[in-house]
Amino acid sequence: MNNWSFYNPTHIEFCPECLDRISSGINYQRIALITTPGFTKRGVVAHVERALGDRLATVCDTVQPNPEVDAIDITAEHLRHVAPDCLIGLGGGSSLDTAKALARILTQPEGTTLSGHLRAGLPLENKRALPIITIPTTAGTGAEVTPFATVWDFQERKKHSITGNDLFPIKAILDPTLTLCLPESLTISSGLDAISHAFESVWNKNANPVSIGLATQSLTISLKTLPELKNRPHDLANRSAMMSASLLAGMAISQTRTALAHSISYPLTLGFDLPHGIACSFTLPELLKYNAVVDDGRLKRLAMILGYNNALGLADALKELLLSLGVPHFLSACELKEERALALTHEMLTPGRADNNLRPASVAEVCTIVKDAFQCNSSLKNEREE
Ligand SMILES: [Fe+2]
Repeated sequence: MNNWSFYNPTHIEFCPECLDRISSGINYQRIALITTPGFTKRGVVAHVERALGDRLATVCDTVQPNPEVDAIDITAEHLRHVAPDCLIGLGGGSSLDTAKALARILTQPEGTTLSGHLRAGLPLENKRALPIITIPTTAGTGAEVTPFATVWDFQERKKHSITGNDLFPIKAILDPTLTLCLPESLTISSGLDAISHAFESVWNKNANPVSIGLATQSLTISLKTLPELKNRPHDLANRSAMMSASLLAGMAISQTRTALAHSISYPLTLGFDLPHGIACSFTLPELLKYNAVVDDGRLKRLAMILGYNNALGLADALKELLLSLGVPHFLSACELKEERALALTHEMLTPGRADNNLRPASVAEVCTIVKDAFQCNSSLKNEREE
């Protein structure tokens, strides 16, 4: 950690019920809102429409979970006629990632498509992406402050990452009241995504003192708040705390990117439709133990700040947390059994993610990590049910 830099230019506004102020300080005149049909139904889009007035040129409310390249191309085609000068992503990670992918493709020459670029390898011109404003409605992805987007190609069974400093949102508006009505399953899976981001940015080769500080503060909040939210989902103080934790973890991974837990998750999301936050968190205790073998002191320090004697103590607490949040049930609901996950281990070393991990891993080591994660989940679950 001798040579490092930190760059995150996103202007953050954190305040409950601040959607009315969305237009303050924004000079764009042809804004496109990118979101899901649910936010139109629930009246949030109407709220944004009132706040932006005639500066809102169009609403694209067609985003689906795990945004797909062909669907993004269809939206891009529509938006080329609208010619927006700014995109607002409103929603969970899928809306924010879709806005970023659109921002990248819309400044390219007519006829350029995301699928052509990602599938056929057609190059993109060196053009700055459209400016993006993010309004997260879950507490987990951190995408409101990162310069990358995950998009999926189900036809080719591939996940792609789109990245670049021009994809840092110019502004992130965080209104925790938007998360008050999130269902329990989404609260848990997105919360576990934030927890995964924080851990992954610590056991990361790209970590620096600032990212570790952000991740540590994030975990101090999230490990306490997420179980409380399960019992008191309508508590605004807890919702605000969880949104802050997600933001801090997002800022940390905006510098480091994620690591092996995310790398392991991608084929499980593709193959079993396992929620992202569950797919990347069920291996965390095993990965903490795996990385502790090469700890340079950062994991022990983190454990002690969080109130444990060492990384192994923290790993045990993490196992209990995953059990209390029902992670084994999420896995069985998606019919994800140990053998089926192990059959995909050869796809779990995603370049750009796995190689960020503090301790390098082979396919055989990933296999052991996944196996131990399943066995730990089922033995703890059986123990509690006896
Ligand atoms: Fe994630």
